Amino acid sequence: MHIQRVAVIGAGTMGNGIAHVFALGGIDVALVDVSDEAVEAGVTMIRKNLGRQVDKDVISQAEAGEALDLIHTSTDLEKTVSNVDLVVEAVSERAEVKADVFRSIDAAAPPDAILASNTSSISITWIAAQTQRPSNVIGMHFFNPVPVMKLVEIVRGLETSDAVFNTVRSLSERLGKSPVEVSDYPGFVSNRVLMPMINEAVYCVMEGVASVEDIDHVMKLGMAHPMGPLNLADFIGLDVCLSIMEVLHTQLGDDKYRPCPLLRKMVTAGRLGRKSGHGFYTYN
Ligand code: 3HC
Repeated sequence: MHIQRVAVIGAGTMGNGIAHVFALGGIDVALVDVSDEAVEAGVTMIRKNLGRQVDKDVISQAEAGEALDLIHTSTDLEKTVSNVDLVVEAVSERAEVKADVFRSIDAAAPPDAILASNTSSISITWIAAQTQRPSNVIGMHFFNPVPVMKLVEIVRGLETSDAVFNTVRSLSERLGKSPVEVSDYPGFVSNRVLMPMINEAVYCVMEGVASVEDIDHVMKLGMAHPMGPLNLADFIGLDVCLSIMEVLHTQLGDDKYRPCPLLRKMVTAGRLGRKSGHGFYTYN
């Protein structure tokens, strides 16, 4: 199947980044959210990030303009998905919200359309089971910032067909990404490895092993990570980190995945990282 028209549901950080790479890949993309303000904020961010790529000579001004021309916005989910080949869901990381969105998409999208989720930890097999077309449901897990990070984890649910997997893999390559095939297990590969590291860094803060800055310094200069784990946790969102740790802990059942109490306390206090202006660091 050749993908020509795509709808991205959710215009937040991940959704607008995903729409950005589809449009740069020459694909017509509709960005959908619940309000005009939300979709407009998404397009503003895409414009800004395309401008950043123009400034760095990654793309030309003309390419940025062509990409913007391929992006449409909508607040009418059912109508928008009714004539697309692929829907990529990037709404908030709450199972019931995703289930509702998938039921609506499933009812309105063409029968052969592929339904993908950008979930970072919710089971693709479970999401697929909310629909009448589990063989057409797949995980397309992008990484923030989407225009920069090369990886797409393609997650196969228990029922995902080979044809759907192959289509999504070639599409990811067409977008300039480097896809990896992953089975549907909690946290997939990325977050099963990344989140326990972040969680352990939070334990180091809680136990006073070193300061926030020094823990990040160790991982940046000792392990050549581009960002320290606490800075990265702020970047991802502490609420997202906590919810992924909870999925790992509940579903894998091992105490080694227990969320650090300090992480939980910070989320309870509303210190969510960059998006709230305060996490392990303070932001303007
Ligand atoms: N759009 C387009 N370009 C962007 C961008 C964006 N949103 N954000 C950054 N860039 C570009 C910059 O223009 C710059 O381009 P250049 O290399 O050509 O100069 C390049 O990316 C680097 O950006 P900066 O110079 O502003 O800053 P840094 O060098 O500090 O890099 C970073 C920023 C790319 C975010 C880097 O620190 C990094 O790679 N950090 C790790 C990010 C990471 O681990 N992401 C994964 C998070 S986990 C996840 O998303 C999964 C989820 O399930 C939790």
